[in-house]
Amino acid sequence: VPLADVPVGEAVVVDVDGTRVVVARPSEDEVVAFSANCTHAGTVVEATGGLELRCPNHGSRFDAGDGAAVLDGPAEQPLPPVPASIEGDLVVLSV
Ligand code: FES
Repeated sequence: VPLADVPVGEAVVVDVDGTRVVVARPSEDEVVAFSANCTHAGTVVEATGGLELRCPNHGSRFDAGDGAAVLDGPAEQPLPPVPASIEGDLVVLSV
């Protein structure tokens, strides 16, 4: 994923060979990534501005800046982390 596609302070949902992954950039030189499948029933979450994610199915919200912690249920578990690193002008994901 091009680093330029992930603005500082934002989260985006990308498709990696058919797997949806949340990539977030809490600061200039830090990226984090998570499975985009809601831990409630698997629906793909949406980025809603800033580092917040929302599941369109039953409304769970997650904070990509805090380990994808649950902000609002019904989900009870954070989104599973995906290893991510910045290499040059790319975000490299280990999906
Ligand atoms: S599937 Fe995401 S809140 Fe139910």
